[in-house]
Amino acid sequence: MNPDELRALVRARRTSMIVDRERPVPRALVEELCEQATWAPNHKRTWPWRFAVAEGEGRARLGEVIADAMARRGDPAEKVAKARTKYLRTPTTLVVGSVPGDSPDRTAENRDAVAAGVQNLLLTATAHGLASYWGSCPKGANDPVAELCHFEPGTHVAAIIYLGWATEHVAPPERPPVHVHDI
Ligand SMILES: Cc1cc2nc3c(=O)[nH]c(=O)nc-3n(C[C@H](O)[C@H](O)[C@H](O)COP(=O)(O)O)c2cc1C
Repeated sequence: MNPDELRALVRARRTSMIVDRERPVPRALVEELCEQATWAPNHKRTWPWRFAVAEGEGRARLGEVIADAMARRGDPAEKVAKARTKYLRTPTTLVVGSVPGDSPDRTAENRDAVAAGVQNLLLTATAHGLASYWGSCPKGANDPVAELCHFEPGTHVAAIIYLGWATEHVAPPERPPVHVHDI
């Protein structure tokens, strides 16, 4: 890949959920995306990323766990009802966790590494023609989601990623110009 192609790939990645809902994402491709994530830089090589995939009924289970957690914290009923079915909008949802480190600094660095890994994953998805959408874990739902995903206690749910085959090109939001300071 030359720099122009890389530049085009980076700009082609868009947060989008406009997908073919009926066309599954092959499990081998999901696993390739996760493997790509593991090539991110990682201080102390703690390998902090964790992955869980929700397909079929698993997407409904994810929605139930999140909706129940939202209901427990008193979120409005319509928001809770929406959460129950929201993961059915794409054929695959990928949950990415970041395990805690042995100090607050290391925990923060783990999360940085996982975020870098998620970008690898999203760019790979884009290269394959998949639309992707990085969503946050709703407030109060982190621990129930981590448990559902079989992540170890204390794992931060860094990303809930909707995946599906893109059916439309989505124009990128412009970025403000970059200013690089001199030191
Ligand atoms: C840590 C993180 C959490 C995000 N959570 C959400 C989210 O909960 N809901 C959402 O609509 N977008 C979420 N996004 C996606 C951003 O809204 C999106 O990247 C931004 O609007 C820029 O658009 P683009 O990704 O298409 O360039 C998240 C992005 C990051 C990095």
